[in-house]
Amino acid sequence: MTKVLILNGPNLNLLGRREPDIYGSTTLDQLNEHLAQSAPEAMTLDFFQSNHEGEMVERIQSLMDQPIDGIVMNPAAWTHTSVAIRDAIAAIDTPLVEVHISNVHRREPFRHQSYFSDLAIAVIAGCGLKGYEFALQTLHHHLKDQ
Ligand code: DQA
Repeated sequence: MTKVLILNGPNLNLLGRREPDIYGSTTLDQLNEHLAQSAPEAMTLDFFQSNHEGEMVERIQSLMDQPIDGIVMNPAAWTHTSVAIRDAIAAIDTPLVEVHISNVHRREPFRHQSYFSDLAIAVIAGCGLKGYEFALQTLHHHLKDQ
């Protein structure tokens, strides 16, 4: 069994209610349930969302003692701001796929910069919630080929 952690950053607890024209009408619970049901063969998922930067840093740090096989992360606004979360990801040796629901490159210039993309094995943006499924498939293939 491969173990994958799905991390979601600030305001993604509001999925379904927040700017639905950009982020859609599906809630985070519905998304997580769907991902758990449709995960690639032999992959188990764990989920964590936080609006608190330090909490996210500590969840990532905990992977040093309890290693897992891969991370799918939508860092949300922290994508463009957080050296602290970037450093936590860099400190652990776990393959990362970065996901954005929207195409950040079609949006405001401040969303074009990511502190995570150069650490990630892949970056998926603009595919809506399907991007999380694509990220799991990407990790599945990456781990199989190792
Ligand atoms: C986001 C894009 C970010 O710029 C934004 O701050 C988010 C969500 C996305 O999924 O498209 O909160 O990461």
